[in-house]
Amino acid sequence: MRILVTGGAGYIGSTATSMLLEKGYDVTVLDDCSTGHADSLDPRAKFIQGSLLDIQTIKSALSDCQAVMHFGAKSLVGESVEKPELYREVNVGGTKNLLAEMSAAGITKLVFSSTAATYGQPKSSPISEDAEALPTNPYGQTKLEVDHMITEAAKSGLAAISLRYFNVAGAFKSQSGWLAERHNPETHLIPNVLRATSLDPLKVFGTDWPTPDGTCIRDYVHVVDLIEAHIIALQKVAPGNHRIINLGSGVGYSVAQVIAAAAKVVTHEIPYENSPRRAGDPAVLVADISRAKTELGWAPTRSLEQMVGDTWESQNARA
Ligand code: UFG
Repeated sequence: MRILVTGGAGYIGSTATSMLLEKGYDVTVLDDCSTGHADSLDPRAKFIQGSLLDIQTIKSALSDCQAVMHFGAKSLVGESVEKPELYREVNVGGTKNLLAEMSAAGITKLVFSSTAATYGQPKSSPISEDAEALPTNPYGQTKLEVDHMITEAAKSGLAAISLRYFNVAGAFKSQSGWLAERHNPETHLIPNVLRATSLDPLKVFGTDWPTPDGTCIRDYVHVVDLIEAHIIALQKVAPGNHRIINLGSGVGYSVAQVIAAAAKVVTHEIPYENSPRRAGDPAVLVADISRAKTELGWAPTRSLEQMVGDTWESQNARA
């Protein structure tokens, strides 16, 4: 079975590509390499460099495929506030093209990379899929619009699952080396914690949040657990049905707890300084993952220490 992986040169898409290949699937990657890295591409995959805004490119990428895992998107919250039209064009417009071409090619199976950013500021915690979706930035808004578009397409027979990620972390060691997050600039907590030095300490964004230690709480899930859920989802999609399923660990860790876990991994204290709150951050984001457990039969198995440890190893391998 050949799967089209859009965004297969990015952090999560490249991990999906390598894990699918290792499970015996054939993979075609479609990526414009605007944020992904060509050196993350698995050499065993067929690679088409191009955009979801180009119909001919999508047509050729879909050739011989029986299913799609759709990761290709703009995915930075801060950037989305500055460039909402770009996010609309790529995330909504690109997916519209993809769905139309899938339909024309008779490809009916889709696993979509959605996000907890669709929920916005949660009214209660943990967040279930039935929580009201009120995104607070264009990134979350565009991903929510895509979820709605997929629900509509399912009425005409599409078999789809949207997976709403919480905080994806960790790295995957593929046959050709570590696949890890490499954003520029890096905004995510774990890579920043591991890069902190006494000259350039980690900035802790807020210590006055309404949480036990005053720092923000997030739900971290290992990228390998996350992709295992995608591969299960691919087998569970049902014609005419669109399910939305949270992927997280169901457990929250504060920024201070992540710093403590990292100090254990690197065996020295992490240099940090307290900074003002970052605009748009909610205090607590934790997933209710009961639907993933019951409907996918999935539960994460990798700990926060493993996420930090794998990120550390991958950073050292690249240094
Ligand atoms: N943080 C710091 N210092 C840093 C970086 C982050 O204190 O240098 C804090 C943030 O304020 C936040 C926590 O660490 O409290 C996690 O921040 P990240 O930037 O790692 O992740 P976010 O929770 O902001 O965002 C992630 C994804 C988004 C997704 C969101 C949904 O990156 O794409 O989860 O839950 F939309």
